[in-house]
Order: sequence, then structure tokens, then C-alpha cells
Amino acid sequence: MVDHRWQTETGWPIVANPVGIEAAPLKPGSPTRPLPGWDVRVLDPSGEPVPAGVDGAIVVKLPLPPGALPTLWNDDDGFVASYLSAFDGYYLTGDSGHIDDDGYVFVMGRTDDGVEIHGANGYLPHQFLATNTNHRTDRYGGSIENRIRFAVEIATAVADEIGAAHTGIRISPGNPFNDIAETDTHELYPALVSALAPLDLAYLHIGHGGDDELLRTLRGIWPTALIVNRGFTDIATRVKDIDDGLADIVSVGVMALANPDLVERVRTGAPLNDPDPATFYGGGEAGYTDYPTHAA
Ligand SMILES: Cc1cc2nc3c(=O)[nH]c(=O)nc-3n(C[C@H](O)[C@H](O)[C@H](O)COP(=O)(O)O)c2cc1C
Repeated sequence: MVDHRWQTETGWPIVANPVGIEAAPLKPGSPTRPLPGWDVRVLDPSGEPVPAGVDGAIVVKLPLPPGALPTLWNDDDGFVASYLSAFDGYYLTGDSGHIDDDGYVFVMGRTDDGVEIHGANGYLPHQFLATNTNHRTDRYGGSIENRIRFAVEIATAVADEIGAAHTGIRISPGNPFNDIAETDTHELYPALVSALAPLDLAYLHIGHGGDDELLRTLRGIWPTALIVNRGFTDIATRVKDIDDGLADIVSVGVMALANPDLVERVRTGAPLNDPDPATFYGGGEAGYTDYPTHAA
């Protein structure tokens, strides 16, 4: 099999096996070497080149070759922000991987992968936050300052390890799921979000139970992207949070599970499938891969 690698944005293969000219021997997992004109390099997070065989950010040294698209349609600023700003003098592909001693490129993953810390729905960080589950008497229990410490330390540690731009955190103020009973959400969550704010994480994801006053407060504190999951409501209600300035992004769970073509249905106003809660948590393909797409 002949593989090649390109990006929609480049409009032309970056790495490919030129079989019509002189086929390169195949190595599993690699589309072989860059084509003429593409000066592909691998950099570490500080922008230094890494040795052969070491993973890093796959970039292309500028200028791009003739034939490569020079911008995004109607969005010059977006092109510069997304592709030319991470490493001075290089085009950022967003892929990670390495180049071996023979110059073969191996794409291993994406540099924009990330971690969402689960601080919601009764999971461990939430148990530290809530008064009914946190009975500690050390510096992780008692006062609000102490109860938020665990979540803030986790976020700090993850951001230190993989970068704040790759780290997000999810919270669910007041959600009683998993036997959580919170008594001081209006004091605790502003304190938590204020303590997380200086970390400059990629985003805060709020599982929103309906306390709009608190959501508005947290929105005012949080400095980067805010994702709101107004669970168990319809699409129009969720999108209204963006229109009202309460959210930058809204997330969707059950509706996406039950509608493989959710985006198309929303776009065309087609009705949504009814989710089947009986198949939510485990089993076979039923309720997992067999929800129908909307009949044309
Ligand atoms: C099948 C399924 C699995 C879920 N698994 C988890 C989970 O592991 N942890 C969690 O905190 N929430 C879980 N949730 C809850 C969702 O994160 C979300 O809060 C809930 O579905 C409401 O939002 P929605 O209306 O957008 O789906 C799950 C929901 C569903 C339907």
C-alpha cells in the first residue's frame, strides 16, 4: 500500500512516495520522505530541533513550496494565528512524530491532544470540594481554601507536565450525582475558579445544573474559553448560552450518542432520535453504533 500525508490546508502532499519517479522502499507507519520543496523538521517545545528518531512537533520550514496554499480562505489572520505563530519561521502542521536516520517521516499523533481533568459529578476532586464527603482535618479539608487545594494542585501538575494550552478542567457546581451534597457553591466555586484562573488553562468545562447566577459569576472570573454543558436540554437552549454571552462553546453528550448525524440534523432542522437510556452503560452495539441516520 502506498501512503501519503498532506493537510487540507496545504492543498498538496507533504510526504509521499513518488512511485512514478522512483519508488522509495516502504517502512510500515511512514509515508516515506518529504516531497521536493517541503523542508520538514521536528522541533521540541522550545523550538529546538530534536535528533533523528525523537518525537516532537512536525513543522515545515518557511517558505512553503510553490503550490502550497498561502492562507485560509477569507481568513489571513486565522492562518497566521493557527499555523505561523507557534514557531518563528516554521509552518505548524499540528502533528507530532519523528524523522528517522533515513529521513522517513513517522506521524505518531497530534500536538493539540489534551487532558480534561474530571473535577465534576462526584469524582475525586469533587469529593475534596464537597462538605459532605471531605472530612479531612489537614490542609486539604475544612475551609474553602483547603477544599479547593487538591483540584488546583492537580491542574497545576498536569499543566506543568503537558502545558496549560493542553489542559482543561470540568466542574459541576451543585450536582448531587454520586451522593455529593454541596452547601456553599456560591462561595466555593468562585474561589476555585479564581484560583484556577492564573494557570491559563485551555478551557473550563462546566456541567451546568441550572444555577444561572453562579454561571454568570464564574463566567466573569474565567479568563480563557468557557464550555457549558447544560445537560438534558435541547440544542436551542444550549446555543442560547452562547448568544447570551454565558458560554464560548456548548458541549453535547446524549444527543451526540443517539444521533450519528447530529450536526446535519441540527443544520437542516430534522427531528432527533430518542435516546434509549436502557443501553447507555455497556453491552454490545445496541445503543452504541446502531442509532439510524436521518432518512434523506
Ligand atoms: C452513556 C453516558 C455515559 C456517561 N458517562 C459519564 C462518566 O463516565 N462520567 C461523568 O462524569 N459523566 C458521565 N455522563 C454524564 C455526561 O457527562 C453529562 O453530564 C450528561 O450526559 C448530561 O449532558 P448531555 O445532556 O449533554 O448529555 C455520561 C452520560 C451518558 C449518557
